[in-house]
Amino acid sequence: MLVLGIESSCDDLSMALVDGGKVLSNVTATQTLDHAPFGGVVPEIASRRHLEHLEPTLALALEKSGKSLGEIEGIAATFAPGLVGSLLVGLNFAKALAFARNLPFRGVHHIEGHLWSAFLENEAQYPFLALAVSGGHTHLYYVKDFGSYELLGHTVDDAAGEAFDKVAKRMGLDFPGGPAVERLARAGDPRAFEFAVPQVKGRPLHTSFSGMKTAAMDYLANLEVERHPDLAASFQRGVVRALIAVLRRASEARPVRQLVAAGGVACNGPLRDALAALAAERKIPLVLPAPKYCTDNGAMIAFTGEKYLSSGRTHPLSLNACARLPLGADA
Ligand code: KG4
Ligand code: ZN
Repeated sequence: MLVLGIESSCDDLSMALVDGGKVLSNVTATQTLDHAPFGGVVPEIASRRHLEHLEPTLALALEKSGKSLGEIEGIAATFAPGLVGSLLVGLNFAKALAFARNLPFRGVHHIEGHLWSAFLENEAQYPFLALAVSGGHTHLYYVKDFGSYELLGHTVDDAAGEAFDKVAKRMGLDFPGGPAVERLARAGDPRAFEFAVPQVKGRPLHTSFSGMKTAAMDYLANLEVERHPDLAASFQRGVVRALIAVLRRASEARPVRQLVAAGGVACNGPLRDALAALAAERKIPLVLPAPKYCTDNGAMIAFTGEKYLSSGRTHPLSLNACARLPLGADA
């Protein structure tokens, strides 16, 4: 089924065409330069840029796929969670297209899209453990089937990507901070500074990043710029160790056939290496999306949308955008 997927939950507008689980095109209009002077995403600017990018992004996604608008058989768009103004632009465009062309429509939860990005190029084996690790989420799910997500644990404060972004900002690095910290860390010593692995009392599968972020800010208060690479490398190691600790505990507690990590932070090289080491140690196959599908993209929304639409599970066009919505809760 040829499905158009639209992702607009934050500062990237991305559209993709997927048919039978195969990505035919995936086009992203980024706004990094628009938000860079502010050191973070400005919601008002994000939604206005999305509006400007809608038509050219669709035109390019169609052109690259070799398909025409008339051939599309279903439309999917992210409806939650995210910046509500940003979500509304992509969602309303999707609903208008579905209405005008009388096509089935499905809203996709952004985190569900991220999880399935791992299976754009791999087959799922249930049950699997999935870590969604992005700018807004650090959530661990036990997935027994498509659409069945049991939340095992999550961060009790900052998301991992958010912590990367805040520490990067304090070091005067570009936004988004994760890739900038990773680049700087290549020249640093990951053991130069101590970052304790957080423990959330009584909740072994929860994690926390605010302590690590505060520790980084304290170290940075009196640190010469020449030592920033050491701090970046040590902080990155701390975040990776915290994520691996919860995944290891979860993988020991339940039968698991695959380990999955997705979302922007899953681009991180040292995290990918540590996940591979954990998977080898636990003898569980690791499934990671290609880095281009870790950050926000339309392909993951089209792919997940096709799974619903091809089995007739549509949403009415009255579906509204929702800034906060746990995965698994009804819209
Ligand atoms: O999934 P995503 O594109 O958007 C959200 O849903 O939040 O994730 C963006 C987050 C940002 O916090 C960014 O700093 C982080 O992912 N990120 C990384 C890397 N690439 C992106 N964090 C660490 N290392 C990276 N290479
Ligand atoms: Zn995302």
